[in-house]
Amino acid sequence: MAKTLAYLTSIIFTVFLFSTLVAAGESHRFSRSLSREMLGLKKEKLSHLHFYFHDIVSGRNPTAVRIAEAAMTNSSITGFGMVAMIDDPLTVRPELSSKQVGRAQGIYASASLSEIGLLMVLNFAFMEGKYNGSTLSVLGRNTVLSTVREMPVVGGSGLFRFARGYAQAKTHTFDLRSGDAVVEYNVYVFHY
Ligand SMILES: *[C@@H]1O[C@H](CO)[C@@H](O)[C@H](O)[C@H]1NC(C)=O
Ligand SMILES: *[C@@H]1O[C@H](CO)[C@@H](O)[C@H](O)[C@H]1NC(C)=O
Repeated sequence: MAKTLAYLTSIIFTVFLFSTLVAAGESHRFSRSLSREMLGLKKEKLSHLHFYFHDIVSGRNPTAVRIAEAAMTNSSITGFGMVAMIDDPLTVRPELSSKQVGRAQGIYASASLSEIGLLMVLNFAFMEGKYNGSTLSVLGRNTVLSTVREMPVVGGSGLFRFARGYAQAKTHTFDLRSGDAVVEYNVYVFHY
């Protein structure tokens, strides 16, 4: 009986040791080199995306809402310290009723004391055709009164894995009374 138990224990121990060694050899490795082919990556492509961004701050269904501010924000000429969360529609044409190709989801914040300069931290979440479900991530500076603002595209997911590039924003219309804006975006990205 004791002999059988010792035998079983040694088998269990051997199996355990072996599986530990196998695991260490294969799945628990921290890093390794890969070729592009092993990830299924073919030729790098350059794409141009064009759409209109609708920043709706007024009315009953705003898509951009102020979520935080500093004590000094209201007395600052640049609204310094204001933080807004957005889920802004992206459409193919300037009209909000035109086809929606995605949403701009994220945060913009007033980050300049001397001019109207926003820190933009957002994802473009696309829903058009083959791009449905893919995203591009933008992290940049947006001086909204400049004619054209350029922001880096720092990455992406889905069809936009390994993306890098830049987005150019140009105000199409800005309603002084409501604060609503339509912004034209041209985005240039390398991806696979
Ligand atoms: C800033 O102004 C807005 C609108 O007038 C007001 O709702 C808000 O409470 C003010 N915030 C501060 C910190 O004074
Ligand atoms: C995008 O994908 C979602 C989830 O897979 C699906 O429900 C939706 O219908 C798709 N939209 C378009 C426009 O293809």
